[in-house]
Amino acid sequence: MNNIELIRIAEDAKKNAYVPYSKFRVGAALLTKSGKVYTGCNIESASYPATICAERTAIVKCVSEGNKDIAKIAIVGSESKLSFPCGICRQLLIEFGNDIEVIVAKNVKEYVTYSIDELLPKGFGPEDLRCSNV
Ligand code: THU
Repeated sequence: MNNIELIRIAEDAKKNAYVPYSKFRVGAALLTKSGKVYTGCNIESASYPATICAERTAIVKCVSEGNKDIAKIAIVGSESKLSFPCGICRQLLIEFGNDIEVIVAKNVKEYVTYSIDELLPKGFGPEDLRCSNV
C-alpha cells in the first residue's frame, strides 16, 4: 500500500464525515505494519466537545480491533490548504510509536509527510510514565 493509495482511501472515508456544525469534512486512513487499513472520519456532536476527529476515529477502530502496530496515517481535510492533525490526535498517535508516518494531503498530488515525532517534538509519551515520580 503506497501513500497515494492510502490518500485515496482517506478521501473516500471523508465522504462519511458527520459535520452538521462545522461543515468541515476530514477523512483518515491508517495502515498497520501488518498491512491492515482502518478508516476514520470526523463525527460531530450537538454537545461540541464530544466531537471526535477523523484521525482518532481511525486509531480507535484500529486499537479496539487488537492492532497497535500503526505504520502510517493519511489525512485529508481541506482541498485548498493542508489540514494538519490537531494536538489531541498527535498525542494519541505518539502513544503508538514515535516513528509513525503522517501524510497530510490536499489530494493525491499535493501532500507532505512527517514523522509524528516531528509533529509533536518533546511530547509526553508512555516512556515518561516509566520513571518514578513518587
Ligand atoms: N478535525 C479533525 O477531524 N481532525 C483534526 O485533526 C482537526 C479537526 C475536525 C473536528 C471537527 O469536526 C472539525 O474538524 C472542525 O474542527
